[in-house]
Amino acid sequence: MTKPVTTLELLKMKEEKQPITMLTAYDYPTAVMVDSAGIDVILVGDSLGNVVLGYDTTVPVTMDHMVHHVQAVTRGVKRALVVADMPFMSYHISAEETMRNAARLLQEGGAKAVKIEGGHQVADKISKLTGAGIPVMGHLGLTPQSVHQMGGYRVQAKTAEAANKLLEDARVLQQAGVFALVLECIPAQLAKQVSEELTIPTIGIGAGADCDGQVLVTHDMLGINAQFKPKFVKRYANLHQDIMQALETYRDEVKQRQFPAAEHSFSMPGEELKKLY
Ligand code: KIV
Repeated sequence: MTKPVTTLELLKMKEEKQPITMLTAYDYPTAVMVDSAGIDVILVGDSLGNVVLGYDTTVPVTMDHMVHHVQAVTRGVKRALVVADMPFMSYHISAEETMRNAARLLQEGGAKAVKIEGGHQVADKISKLTGAGIPVMGHLGLTPQSVHQMGGYRVQAKTAEAANKLLEDARVLQQAGVFALVLECIPAQLAKQVSEELTIPTIGIGAGADCDGQVLVTHDMLGINAQFKPKFVKRYANLHQDIMQALETYRDEVKQRQFPAAEHSFSMPGEELKKLY
């Protein structure tokens, strides 16, 4: 029996200086593979908006989209801690709505924790959730739900003033009870300082090598979208090329009547064949 990863175990991993691994999944087969590979945390990110739903940003992603995809992922996971993103505006309107939405991700979706973007502005909501026993992961730096406010996807906290604000937000989030903190697209020196100061684990994406763990979008690290290759992504496979090659070979083999071959076909016993009219 596989022992599921818990938030306490992630804390222990930080204390023991064992790097934490995290990847995204939005569907059952990907979740099965990521979990079988021994990845510690699976994030059902609202990046599903860009990555699999074809939107330009994460802003159009709704609670219903999230619940649907979280359900598919949790059906496939035995060991990893499944964290579900709370989508745009699902945690801003009121504390009551925030609680109800987070509860849906756990009760209907089967997630074990939720992730919320933002600093001191969302700390009160985070305290309410953690007070109700819902584990929350924080997210600072490049927060894609604020893309229109940030004026695009760009590295954050490059000035000392902005870096100090981020550091202060990180302290506030830890105080509010987050069990881990994603740091996205910030200078490596700042991520190192946050990671050294906080007692909770930091998980970096475009935040250098000194975070307590690393996260990537699975589709990016597998090279599924040939167009998308930001600096912080390392491609561990080139599936776009492999998949295109397979699709084109299938097309050609059907057109040339090479597929299906005898080994892909079923045959009727001879005596039955004779009875056909
Ligand atoms: O939605 C997402 O995939 C994320 C990761 C990039 C951390 O928030």
